[in-house]
Amino acid sequence: MTTLKLTSAEPARLDVDVLVIGVGSAPSGPELLDAGALPAGLRLTVTASASALGVTGEAGTLTRIPSGGELKAPVVALVGVGAAPGRDGLDPETLRRAAGAATRQLAGVRGVGLLLPAETAEQVGAVAEGALLGAYAFTRYHAAERGPVERVELITPRAREAAAKRAAERAEVVAAAVHGTRDLVNTAPIDLFPAAFADRAKAAAKGTKVKVSVLDEKALADGGYGGLVAVGQGSSRPPRLVRVSWSPARAKRSVALVGKGITFDSGGLSIKPAKGMEAMKSDMAGAAAVLHTVLAAAALELPVKVTGWLCLAENMPSGTAQRPSDVITQRGGTTVEVLNTDAEGRLVLADGLVAAREEKPDTLVDIATLTGAQVVALGPRVSAVMGTDDTRTAVVEAAARAGEQFWPMPLPVELRASLSSKVADLANIGDRMGGMLVAGLFLKEFVGDTPWAHLDIAGPAFNEAGAHDYTPVGGTGVGVRTLLSLLEG
Ligand code: BES
Ligand code: MN
Ligand code: ZN
Repeated sequence: MTTLKLTSAEPARLDVDVLVIGVGSAPSGPELLDAGALPAGLRLTVTASASALGVTGEAGTLTRIPSGGELKAPVVALVGVGAAPGRDGLDPETLRRAAGAATRQLAGVRGVGLLLPAETAEQVGAVAEGALLGAYAFTRYHAAERGPVERVELITPRAREAAAKRAAERAEVVAAAVHGTRDLVNTAPIDLFPAAFADRAKAAAKGTKVKVSVLDEKALADGGYGGLVAVGQGSSRPPRLVRVSWSPARAKRSVALVGKGITFDSGGLSIKPAKGMEAMKSDMAGAAAVLHTVLAAAALELPVKVTGWLCLAENMPSGTAQRPSDVITQRGGTTVEVLNTDAEGRLVLADGLVAAREEKPDTLVDIATLTGAQVVALGPRVSAVMGTDDTRTAVVEAAARAGEQFWPMPLPVELRASLSSKVADLANIGDRMGGMLVAGLFLKEFVGDTPWAHLDIAGPAFNEAGAHDYTPVGGTGVGVRTLLSLLEG
């Protein structure tokens, strides 16, 4: 990963290839956000160049200017932050996005200096996190045309203070977790099948205090995990349930995280059209986020017990696949009539939720690329949160602190009737309208009275449009920052 260093050196003397300077848009024109750190002469020339080049300060834009020998870095890059800050300064997410927009667009550059508002430890953390999140490339199958920025020097007057250093270290842990999640999502499904995912979890936990245990297909059948077995039975590559746990001695609370890990979702016999299948290697993004959240919680030594449950299966059509009208028995005994094999996420999650609850966690959170209806409701960048009031609110607040967009959604009781079956306790599909909420109501049947939140990240987990801010094309790593911030809160 990119190396990060805090420095209180004079920007003009910094030995980097590009010096990034934040620029805000103000009624009077672009406004450099250097907090007086640049020599007056340099400030004037850069401002003049910015005006001449039509720099507006619009958020996410990047404009490179030759520095003309006035500072050690040969190039200055102006990164827009949007509206110039008022008295309250810039909020952390604005800083994250600006720093990430800069490092992302400067891929191929080795050393980058960052001159953005970083007066407080919180701002230092935000700039550091954004810069590292923006410096990402997935290179498993071919070399990146331009590799991620190798070295970031973050300019702050607090470079030597403990709080700023802690914030930067936290940013490194967070970015590593988000990158690890993106890597898993981007990996082709031929390489990432349930057993391979389980192996990746074991390898990632090696040398840490995170414990990993794996139930294979035989253990799943013996244990009555009917959802995982049924969804996985059409594939030549059998399902797994992986338990990952961080259990510090002084923990006062326990949180269970359950992730949907469909390594490929063809739909099964209720097969998807080709277009709808293209992005379905990302259907394990919830499980990936859970794995890396637990690893990050351990790296940060958070004083809370965190148990992750990765519900891993490949949903394929074949002679052994489950059929529409099959009746399965979930862990715990609830029977489900499978009317559509493409509504598979809820079947594997139901087993995971029941398994998680057997250990009596204080709070239960699941995260899943669960429904196309989520994308219809909230678009590609905003995730949904459903669940019990307290936990749903806690997740929404954690997301706001983390800078991720999660919006609260209801679980209307009147939609529950549509999930009734003539032959089983439940059907796996109900009303099409409000499909995201119907899926949430299905899961609700398995959480008992445990405080619970359900996060549907179907759209935000995989970026099929262009890169923006610190977000690349492909796997985004959404959810990790929200879950971590929830655990920290
Ligand atoms: N993995 C999909 C949901 C999905 C769709 C994620 C688009 C990301 C982008 C899920 O398993 C699925 O197929 N859901 C069905 C449920 C339906 C059959 C009730 C859907 O949303 O169409
Ligand atoms: Mn599906
Ligand atoms: Zn799915």
